[in-house]
Amino acid sequence: MKNSLSVNKQSNLLYKQIYEYILNRIERNEWKEHDKLPSIRTLAQEMNVHRLTVFKAYQLLKQNGKVYVKDKSGYHVHPDSIVPFEHLDYPIASSYFLRNHLSEIHRVPAIYQFSQALIDPNLLPNLYFSEYVKEVFDLYPKVLGTYSTVQGDEELREVLSRYFLKRHQLHLSTDEILITSGAQQAIDLISRVLVKPNDTVLLERPTYSAAIDIFRQQGAHIVPIDIHPCGYDMEQVESYMRQYKPRLFYLNPTFHNPTGYTVPTEQRKRLVELAEQYRCFLVEDDPFHDTYFYQEPPPPLFMYDTEGWVMYIRSFSKYVAPGLRIAAVVSRPLLMRSLLTAKSLSDNGTPLLNQKIFLHYFSSARLQQHLEKLRIALHIRKGIMEEELAVTDWKWMSPKGGLNLWIKIPEVIPMEELLVKSIEQSISFVPGTICDPLKKSESWIRLSYSYVNEQQLRDGVQRLISLSCSLASSCGH
Ligand SMILES: Cc1ncc(COP(=O)(O)O)c(C=O)c1O
Repeated sequence: MKNSLSVNKQSNLLYKQIYEYILNRIERNEWKEHDKLPSIRTLAQEMNVHRLTVFKAYQLLKQNGKVYVKDKSGYHVHPDSIVPFEHLDYPIASSYFLRNHLSEIHRVPAIYQFSQALIDPNLLPNLYFSEYVKEVFDLYPKVLGTYSTVQGDEELREVLSRYFLKRHQLHLSTDEILITSGAQQAIDLISRVLVKPNDTVLLERPTYSAAIDIFRQQGAHIVPIDIHPCGYDMEQVESYMRQYKPRLFYLNPTFHNPTGYTVPTEQRKRLVELAEQYRCFLVEDDPFHDTYFYQEPPPPLFMYDTEGWVMYIRSFSKYVAPGLRIAAVVSRPLLMRSLLTAKSLSDNGTPLLNQKIFLHYFSSARLQQHLEKLRIALHIRKGIMEEELAVTDWKWMSPKGGLNLWIKIPEVIPMEELLVKSIEQSISFVPGTICDPLKKSESWIRLSYSYVNEQQLRDGVQRLISLSCSLASSCGH
């Protein structure tokens, strides 16, 4: 009985995968409108599955208007399921449409760069790094002559393990730490290890735009959870965990990107309890932990995890040296094994030189001094942006850390036009829709105050305000 149930469950998953596979080939224009699709028998043989499984996939395609049936000649591609060629903005190379909306915006050069949640290079310790490069070559003359281990440099992992103990009272062995090339790679590796097509993934709404694209590329069924200034509606979280049985919840609970909100301690503890109860992984992305303006944020969720349901990603890329692309993923041993395989398939290990340079800076006293100054500089820049915006009726919650303001602008301002006109005037920002898994939030924008200098901040925000006023008045308001 038990066996037949699990076989049934498996074939249910299988037909959905076949459904996705066929749909994908149609969307990639491999099969054109009215083309005849392979017969059920052929496809079943090709894919080594039962004919009934392929039949179920075809039925679902038919039900969703993707294919139609012609008497005696089988299944054909429905013209409505074709994506017009001019809407395909990439040569299609993979089985899913690859898109990274955020990087498309970043590719546009702008003087008033408010779209990059990056720190002004003038605020980073560049000079020290040039000293460390020399030191690293003296200490490890063969550093470029070898690979790093896949998991990352042992010495760096030891330093990080001591750091996590001192900073967050976390006892971690070096085996529980993986060095990745930035947090973005970590999210990608985790998605590959944990998510199969049609698995449910909970994402905050709004969220870090690249995460939406990564999980979507993996074929996940994305279910959004609203994030508010005081965290989540925990009843909603629980009911979604019960209802959808998600594989994971990706969250950025500290100075959240794009809103700047921080999830309170009580909710952090409860989230871990829920994760254990509903067997849902929590992927905690925490790149802004140290960029607080007043007091330290609550400890990471990871601190409350005793059973291994939290994977913790801590990037040091933003505020130390983005060019080195160093982040750490902390995970309990079982998952670590799969992560290591994914990392080895991806790049065989983060460059050793980058890790050694980072290690020397990270273990020096300079890091703390740098962070203290950086927090002040960022706080000042946030203040300047808010001062300039004060003349508008735009709404935002002043964040207590992080790099961004998440702003509601009046609905009368047409967003697309604002973006196009801003780019013409060398101003860039992130439109809210790309941070929204539902692709709504049309009248929200994310402005980063961390990248441009104080004068550019003032000039750029003034220009953006005057642009939006003239757009609003041209729309008759
Ligand atoms: C929430 C979040 N996660 C991950 C990243 C990517 O970080 P990294 O530069 O370490 O890849 C960013 C960058 O903006 C981010 O905001």
